[in-house]
Amino acid sequence: MIKKYVFGNPFPTDAVIAHVDVCNDPLPFFEINGDGDFFTCLSDNEIVYGLGEQIRGINKRGWEYVSWNYDNPHHHEDTRSLYGSHNFIIVSGERLFGAFFDYAGRITFDIGYTNKNQMSVRPEKPDLCVYIIEGADEKDIVRQFRSIIGKSYIPPLWAFGYGQSRWGYKDENDIREVAENYSSADIPLDSIYLDIDYMERYKDFTVDINRFPDLEKLASDMKNNGVHLVPIIDAGVKIEEGYDVYEEGVENGYFCKNADGEDFVGAVWPGRVHFPDFLNPQARNWFGKKYETLTKLGIDGFWNDMNEPAIFYTEDRLEETLRHIHKLSQGNMGINEYFTFTGMVAGLNGNAGDYHKFFHNVNGQTIRHSDVHNLYGMNMTRSAFEALRKIQPNKRTLFFSRSSYIGAHRYGGIWQGDNKSWWSHILQSMQQLPALNMAGFIFIGADTGGFGCDTTEDLMLRWLQYSLFTPLFRNHSADGTRKQELYRFSSVNTMKEMIKIRYALIPYLYSEFLKSALDDEMMFRPLSFDFHCDKEAINVEDQLLLGDQLMIAPVYKQNAKGRYVYLPEEMMLVRMKKYDDYYTEILDKGHHYVHCELDELVFFIRKDKVLPLYAPAKNTEEIDYASVTLVGYPQSSYTLLKDDGICPDPEESLCRITLEN
Ligand code: GLC
Repeated sequence: MIKKYVFGNPFPTDAVIAHVDVCNDPLPFFEINGDGDFFTCLSDNEIVYGLGEQIRGINKRGWEYVSWNYDNPHHHEDTRSLYGSHNFIIVSGERLFGAFFDYAGRITFDIGYTNKNQMSVRPEKPDLCVYIIEGADEKDIVRQFRSIIGKSYIPPLWAFGYGQSRWGYKDENDIREVAENYSSADIPLDSIYLDIDYMERYKDFTVDINRFPDLEKLASDMKNNGVHLVPIIDAGVKIEEGYDVYEEGVENGYFCKNADGEDFVGAVWPGRVHFPDFLNPQARNWFGKKYETLTKLGIDGFWNDMNEPAIFYTEDRLEETLRHIHKLSQGNMGINEYFTFTGMVAGLNGNAGDYHKFFHNVNGQTIRHSDVHNLYGMNMTRSAFEALRKIQPNKRTLFFSRSSYIGAHRYGGIWQGDNKSWWSHILQSMQQLPALNMAGFIFIGADTGGFGCDTTEDLMLRWLQYSLFTPLFRNHSADGTRKQELYRFSSVNTMKEMIKIRYALIPYLYSEFLKSALDDEMMFRPLSFDFHCDKEAINVEDQLLLGDQLMIAPVYKQNAKGRYVYLPEEMMLVRMKKYDDYYTEILDKGHHYVHCELDELVFFIRKDKVLPLYAPAKNTEEIDYASVTLVGYPQSSYTLLKDDGICPDPEESLCRITLEN
């Protein structure tokens, strides 16, 4: 049962696309104070799930979270905002309800931070819709919520293959070298990513011909070996005379404006940029069509970045800062002046004040950016998705984005942003998966191996053992950090076996993905969603159920030779060194210490379930669906969903194959 409550004059976010009648009864579960803040008391045993891409645990109690899309590479415990805003929560315990606060501006969720038994939700302005959902259990509430926000995006099958990326591949030779090294190491690979260096002076939809003289040929050579090239597209458009995207945008009024009606200027990778007004349907349409410049060259996947939008600085703030620094430099810098100086410099990037300075044109209405900030990234991916659907109606294109709002799950996936090569970031990624699934995002994954900082060989191995279960499986790292292509490590053979296990699992993972997308189910769930009455399961924060068949419990601590797991029912432990070299053992319900060496993958098959494993191929195109082995409980069966992996509507080629043990 879903009820919609309207407060003030909300901006239509397009998160909810089904019609829901407005309810005029008082809002249940929450009290509202004079400022329009929502309060509810939390009993000691109630759990709060949700908020999608946020830091901390699966149970969100004990911190304050701010939905304000932010280019934040510091995914630390004291962070409040990351790249996406997913304002959907479920309170479970004595009460059971879901609540979606559909609000496009800054909104704060104080979940037991100020007072441990109270949650308050504070939108910056009192203009929003609140949806309250009651149901039989958490999964039912999620299903109902997903039914009103629309079906999740389904990428092409090849996007489930392993992808290699790095900010630092400078030219065509670097790309060819990566492909060749993977091929000679016999490691399966489906994609190589092009970061900002493929562009001419970081200009969207251009290619630097000195470094990539023939991108079309490169893309075609790669594709002949089963590898797709996936370029990055950034939100900011470089200000440069003669650059068509800039000139067309200016001429047609497609960029965001400042208070004087001039095109707003910020600075990102290219230096001074304008920001396309993605909330303006004409501008969205125009920018979306630009992707064709690259699809014409044989490109069939994109990652959209810097679309919070990230702003390194605005010119007026920079000038003010420089003036101030100049003044400071005249005297002897005392400690207070020193902190003012460092604060001003650090405060240039992503300064909240800058987001109040520009405006959108939404069907003739001028809207201040800060009131709709969290919708910007979603509408960038929407522009690409909608345009490509028209340009190539018979083909899926891979899209994933850094910034998002609920609704963006219809247009693309997301990656979890600029994490670090830290052990704790394996766990952080894992804890976000169910919360993202609740909000409709299922094509998700983290930068495997870690983006910032130097990775280590053991971290990479453990990270692979986790990420090989996530739909998006990409190794990505920042310029200047230790290189982390798998062939660089002495454990290359073990890493290769892990990637092969991924490929053995792809038909299953893709099948579970399709089920989640088509039936509004969660691919990844906390144990408590399936085992409500189990008091131990409710507290488990580092294991997840995957589909109806598996439980994953990755090792995420350095030098650990195993880990503790809690089994909420009898399960079959699978210890795998190679896709065809594994050991299984039935373990009883309860607590266990499970050994797991660095070269082993450990996971669990649920009671009376079976997992199909296929012979791995060198890429997704070559997977042989005839060579299947079933691992798991005897006398059980699995229904595999399979389509052609490319037609936009999977139903057109969908088949259900029953596999019996
Ligand atoms: C941002 C992205 C990162 C990318 C870098 C350079 O930090 O999040 O993935 O590599 O920009 O484009």
